[in-house]
Amino acid sequence: MKKKDCLYFKSPKITLYHGEAAQVLALLPKASVDCIVTSPPYYGQRDYGVEGQVGLEVHPQEYIDRLITVFRAAKQVLKPTGSLWVNIGDTYWSGKGKPGGEDKKQKNRRFLRPQDKSGPRPLCTPKQLLLIPHRFAIAMQEDGWIVRNDNVWYKVNPTPDPVDDRSASAHEYVFHFVLRRRYYYDNEAVAMASSNGNKTKAPPSVWMIPTATNFKKHIAVFPERLVNIPVCATLPPGGLLLDPFCGSGTALGYAVAQGKRRRAIGIDISAPALEEAQTLLTPQGS
Ligand SMILES: C[S@@+](CC[C@H](N)C(=O)[O-])C[C@H]1O[C@@H](n2cnc3c(N)ncnc32)[C@H](O)[C@@H]1O
Repeated sequence: MKKKDCLYFKSPKITLYHGEAAQVLALLPKASVDCIVTSPPYYGQRDYGVEGQVGLEVHPQEYIDRLITVFRAAKQVLKPTGSLWVNIGDTYWSGKGKPGGEDKKQKNRRFLRPQDKSGPRPLCTPKQLLLIPHRFAIAMQEDGWIVRNDNVWYKVNPTPDPVDDRSASAHEYVFHFVLRRRYYYDNEAVAMASSNGNKTKAPPSVWMIPTATNFKKHIAVFPERLVNIPVCATLPPGGLLLDPFCGSGTALGYAVAQGKRRRAIGIDISAPALEEAQTLLTPQGS
């Protein structure tokens, strides 16, 4: 496969590629990207209806291995001074053997998810929180990444989680990974006022952000505010951002909207997702 075969859209600021993330990443120039901001499909949550999609692997470890393959390819494309930010949520094993039935909020939940089947214990025990984000971060460490933060996205308006034997889920993670001790980080761009009024305080690692308002067709959009710190701190003026699971292009649009000649590349395996991304990004991308 050649790069031009998967080029979906190109404007001066935005480039979109159609294909499987690891395969497309292997075609991009080495050490060419300043910052990667992305949200892969979560384990067992959505069926995007595309062959080769990530997220529906039979065992959670296969999912982690798949993500590591993608981010190993991403490592080649990232500059040594670059940052990688990954938003990822967790999943419970269910073992009910049937789909959960119609869920008005999650229309794509009517398929038999991997966690609905029976699986090897002890991990795949019904009611078990799989600790997918933690497993992923540790696997990334073992693959050579340095974990700088496990930022918690506290959703101030979470989807109702009707449970009576545990706390209701209301958070996800945004991991910040780097490749070496010194990397590009504009701390002033994200600094917060300290109690004496000086802009000297680093932002806290818990981000209180509402979930995205759902005006898009895409079913798993993240909110723009989630990418504010990643973009402002680690995408330099004139820099290039990459999202290898770009969906409707939220991270790309936010990066380009910050001006200062910033550009963005998106990859997605779903043509309908790219169609929406192109439509939404064309006014500012052209
Ligand atoms: C959680 S969504 C990303 C949403 C995006 N952050 C937004 O705000 O619209 C994950 C995306 O990954 C895509 N995807 C799934 N498997 C993929 C793969 N193997 N390679 C590239 N994209 C993939 C899906 O089509 C989906 O659009």
